[in-house]
Amino acid sequence: MRIIETLRCCLFILDFLFISVFFINSCQGDVGTAAQYNPPYLPTICYGNDASEFPSSNLFAAAGDGIWDNGASCGRQYLVRCISATQPGTCVPDQTIQIKVVDYAPSAPSTPSADGTTIVLSETAFGIIANSSASNINIEFQQV
Ligand SMILES: *[C@@H]1O[C@H](CO)[C@@H](O)[C@H](O)[C@H]1NC(C)=O
Repeated sequence: MRIIETLRCCLFILDFLFISVFFINSCQGDVGTAAQYNPPYLPTICYGNDASEFPSSNLFAAAGDGIWDNGASCGRQYLVRCISATQPGTCVPDQTIQIKVVDYAPSAPSTPSADGTTIVLSETAFGIIANSSASNINIEFQQV
């Protein structure tokens, strides 16, 4: 009888630990906004005319002022997920992309679909996590 009680107690503590770890992990991201931009993507403030810095997946982005970090964000990778938008149903559920920062949004060669967002995603990147006819979305993001 005592052994069963002890086991039950241990299981309870284990459950608690699992749930805590799960919550801590899923709350690491920050919340922000994302717009999208179309070609031309070159030149970039990070790499000039060097197209080899663009991931072949086309999953890249231009940093907004919030994450630009005075240029230190060039080359950083972020996980980005769409969490909501003005129009319901805009987010593609359960889609997370990993993007590389290649440019600074306010000086990008093409105008972003919305001003002042945390990040401006390439056409391809935006279209994977949201309806591509949206101009801006709310995101959860986390540096890799
Ligand atoms: C994307 O949004 C547009 C405009 O709101 C809508 O007409 C279209 O059906 C949406 N596409 C999908 C795949 O939900």
